[in-house]
Amino acid sequence: MIKKGIILAGGMGTRMSPLTKAVNKQLLPIYDKPLIFYPLSILMLAKIRDVLIIVNKGQMDQYRKLIPDGKKLGMKIEYIEQDKPRGLPDAFILGEKFIKKDNVAMILGDNFFYGQSLSKMLFDCVKIKKGAKVVLHKVSNPEKFGVATVKGKKILSIKEKPKNSKSDLAVTGLYFFDNKVVKLANKLKPSKRNELEIVDLLNSYRKINQLSSEFLGRGGAWLDTGSIEDFYKTSNFVSAIENLQGFKIACLEEISLNNNWINKNKVYEAIKFYGNCDYSKYLKKIIS
Ligand code: G1P
Repeated sequence: MIKKGIILAGGMGTRMSPLTKAVNKQLLPIYDKPLIFYPLSILMLAKIRDVLIIVNKGQMDQYRKLIPDGKKLGMKIEYIEQDKPRGLPDAFILGEKFIKKDNVAMILGDNFFYGQSLSKMLFDCVKIKKGAKVVLHKVSNPEKFGVATVKGKKILSIKEKPKNSKSDLAVTGLYFFDNKVVKLANKLKPSKRNELEIVDLLNSYRKINQLSSEFLGRGGAWLDTGSIEDFYKTSNFVSAIENLQGFKIACLEEISLNNNWINKNKVYEAIKFYGNCDYSKYLKKIIS
């Protein structure tokens, strides 16, 4: 079982400037919570309790105000600063000391997942012992993402933002790797845009026949919140689900409680911490 996870929450968020001039993108709201809650909730649903969050240089204190160290959630959460964006595989170079000899999951800080079968799919993903696994989702605009062709669950090819692709299967920003990811990431050479490319890392697994996939499926939703428009789209989605059904998506304390990582006392502490707000009202409801 994979027990460690990395959230890559670096990047300058330039496409969302001026919103991102003073505040990191992952701390901006998706409806009623900061964006970072959503990818963190995905790792928690995968029962990953040991998390490293990679943030931009100088932004660690902003995060610590919100999520100091994971104790409140019955987790271990640590941070590391990245001085400049060097591409997604840099997470495994920066995270080497955190990963040690273990296998590791990685989720991009701006990825949103939702769906009935999510927990089951995550359970299948964390089971991998050898190789790497990506999560694929059918999209109408594959040219904006990494795109894969598959045979069953096996990946036949994987390309970054291809102009004309026959496949409409996007590679989402949720990845599962065995421990050799650290060695393979260290071997990568920067691309023309001077970054380490995730597609190159995934291709090094594909070449040795160790790259497989899981599908989020038709009933699942995946949104990459890269632009202001995406923020509003995702916020509307969360608002619609939460208000229609009366539960919250990515309520961290609720997931911790369900995972038996915390007890009700910790939820009371969280209510005090967040203060008088809708999120706290929801927390009160789930423990009453
Ligand atoms: C990155 C990856 C891409 C993946 C996407 C998912 O792209 O390079 O392969 O499909 O995340 O969110 P970016 O969004 O950084 O352009």
